[in-house]
Amino acid sequence: MRRLVVLVLILAGCATVADGPDYSALPRWPSHAIPQARGDVRALPDGRRQAVRYEGWTTQDFGRFRTYAYDDTRPEIPVSRALPPAGLAGDARKGRALFLSREKAPCTGCHLVPGADVWPAGSVGPDLSAIGDRRLPDAYLYQQIWDPRVTFPNTTMPPWGASRAFTAEEIVHLVAYLQTLKGPLPPEPDAERNPFTRRRPTGFGDNLDPTNNPAVVIAEDAEKLWNAPGPNGRACANCHDGGVTRAMRGVAAHYPKLVAAYGRVMSIEDFLTVHGPERTGRPLLAESAENVDLTMLIKMASNGMPVQVDVTSAEARAALARGKASFYRRIGERNHSCADCHTPERGANKFLGGRMLADVTEGLTRHFPTWRTSQGAAWDMRRRFQWCMTPLGANMLAADAIEYAELELYLTSFDNGKPISAPGIRH
Ligand code: HEC
Ligand code: HEC
Ligand code: HEC
Repeated sequence: MRRLVVLVLILAGCATVADGPDYSALPRWPSHAIPQARGDVRALPDGRRQAVRYEGWTTQDFGRFRTYAYDDTRPEIPVSRALPPAGLAGDARKGRALFLSREKAPCTGCHLVPGADVWPAGSVGPDLSAIGDRRLPDAYLYQQIWDPRVTFPNTTMPPWGASRAFTAEEIVHLVAYLQTLKGPLPPEPDAERNPFTRRRPTGFGDNLDPTNNPAVVIAEDAEKLWNAPGPNGRACANCHDGGVTRAMRGVAAHYPKLVAAYGRVMSIEDFLTVHGPERTGRPLLAESAENVDLTMLIKMASNGMPVQVDVTSAEARAALARGKASFYRRIGERNHSCADCHTPERGANKFLGGRMLADVTEGLTRHFPTWRTSQGAAWDMRRRFQWCMTPLGANMLAADAIEYAELELYLTSFDNGKPISAPGIRH
């Protein structure tokens, strides 16, 4: 009998492996995030739908395209073949404007083409400066832009026509422009213009030096919050004694982890959204300043200690498999996955526009939350996830969604054994 049970369990295990990750046993999770970070979409009086996001972020609803939600079972944008429409003449001048348009793409984010106004071009895709010399048929180029997956199934290049980001006519103009790009190319006067010769960016200085990183001062200031009684009269310091540095030493090294009491994987940020109100009566909403600041304070108590997230228990392995599936899942209008930009096989260590793409295998996580000099604020990792994918035409999930927590666990697993150094500082 015992043997039979074991056999059944083994077979059940095989079945889930063969069918991909198991999403069935996860709790439903109501969000405890600030309104800008909940992924809400609201209906306007005129019936249009508008996404609620941070000020300055697009309010466009991308509900037409799939997201990271585990219960969003829609497939990625189907691969599509297309021929240039008959009777449409391409206009190379219009094509160039489309190629450079920041509204539209821009194609220059990944491809170099001639012109002093092409700035900053990226190197994720091949240099197209002389593609006209290859005498490729118009129909071939049209298909590459419409949907390159027909030739390159794992490409990082979005299916611009299949997603309806570009119209057939616009793609005809793009093809006409590319056919005008012919060598020999004049010598490049500016090595920085060309992403293949551009200097690689250097660091941002000592991230733990308070005169260099404003987030260090903010985090230290969060000690006031740690000591301040919440509405129920209790402060963090009442139950966690000995000062935050001692009480929280080594804690952050184990997060994200499965927290049995809540039946889900949580980062420190996720945990505080429920632990804060339960124990002190104070809401610590995901992506609120209080939540991010306390997280920085808690993480600093583990600085220099190696990351040690659980990757071996059965629960952790199941969560990692789901996180990995999300990392490779293509979503949104651009049909991008995280892997497109952050793995060395694809975009990592290349320039996307002016930005050198970080490599997941070298680590993306140990310096979060991170001060962003370009934003003048400390960001936790979830806000970074939301920021990475929203402009690529995807609706975001709530900051404290289980999907993001398991994705974060997968990213963090690459950092096991490497020292924590938070808060970080980045552009
Ligand atoms: C996120 C990066 C990215 C963006 C944005 C991008 N491409 Fe590409 N593109 C690539 C990559 C990578 C390849 C090489 C194909 C491969 O190996 O996946 C490529 C290949 C190409 C090719 C050459 C195909 C061949 O057979 O040699 C053309 C033409 C092209 N892209 C045009 C465009 C145009 C036009 C746009 C804007 C509408 C654009 N690309 C935007 C990444 C990108
Ligand atoms: C009433 C007592 C109490 C208060 C107040 C309290 N905690 Fe806790 N905290 C606990 C207990 C007990 C645990 C361990 C059990 C659990 O996970 O709930 C814990 C666990 C934690 C953990 C996870 C530790 C680990 O090893 O995984 C963190 C982080 C934490 N608390 C932070 C805080 C912060 C920040 C505050 C203030 C907002 C706070 N706590 C307030 C009792 C308290
Ligand atoms: C089209 C490209 C693109 C995609 C797709 C993308 N990112 Fe990014 N990501 C960037 C850029 C650009 C940066 C800033 C430069 C850098 O640090 O890589 C960045 C930075 C990050 C960072 C911070 C790295 C650091 O060292 O500070 C994290 C974490 C991150 N991305 C996670 C993700 C995750 C998770 C996904 C999928 C949900 C994703 N990204 C999808 C372009 C992308």
